[in-house]
Amino acid sequence: MTVHIGAKLGDIAETVLLPGDPYRAKWAAETFLEDAKLVNEVRGMLGFTGMWKGNRVTIHGSGMGMPSLSIYVNELIKDYDAKTLIRIGSCGGMRDKVAVRDVILATATTTLSTPSRGIFKELQFAPTCDWDLLHNAFHAAEAKGVPTHVGGIYSADVFYDERPDLNEQMTRHGILGVEMEAAELYTLAARYNRRALAVLTVSDHLLTGEALPSEDRERSFGDMVEIALEAAFA
Ligand code: HPA
Repeated sequence: MTVHIGAKLGDIAETVLLPGDPYRAKWAAETFLEDAKLVNEVRGMLGFTGMWKGNRVTIHGSGMGMPSLSIYVNELIKDYDAKTLIRIGSCGGMRDKVAVRDVILATATTTLSTPSRGIFKELQFAPTCDWDLLHNAFHAAEAKGVPTHVGGIYSADVFYDERPDLNEQMTRHGILGVEMEAAELYTLAARYNRRALAVLTVSDHLLTGEALPSEDRERSFGDMVEIALEAAFA
């Protein structure tokens, strides 16, 4: 047990999928895993461990935003020795070529700050994904026929941003989408020599104002779970 995770040592698999929403973790575990068992429910942050095609997997909520994700990923890596960590979540589209429902595989993340900021001070560290996971995820998405974009994203600290000029600068510099967790995930994976990737569905679009209808969210989320599982075990 750790401060925020009630699982026993050995209850967490080496491969962990991280949706922001704990109820998404429950849905994904019940839908895709065999013999899924609840391994954490501290503060309602649900985690499940089960089997997918003979491979042991944990699906655990990360919460929203980098401070929350940082708590869980620190403990998953340092206390439970998680080796492959894949965020599955939503993002806001920031470019014309990116449509609602498309998948974005994040190569690199831009941020104003992360919980790791204190280490780097004036240095601009570039948090990046694991190449093998990216390669595998791209081919898995292609095989499923899911329109997929590969490139940089912006990990924001605020959802209700009072600085729209910042979004404009991100779009101007080729950023594909905005979410709130991946930069800290990639930074921690780099620090502890683990594999990480963010597989994101575009749930809303900052340029067009379009948003994914709630009935479509489940199917898009299911595609992401399968892409992440195939990437982890290819
Ligand atoms: N901003 C930040 N995070 C998000 C968004 C957004 O527009 N959409 C989904 N996650």
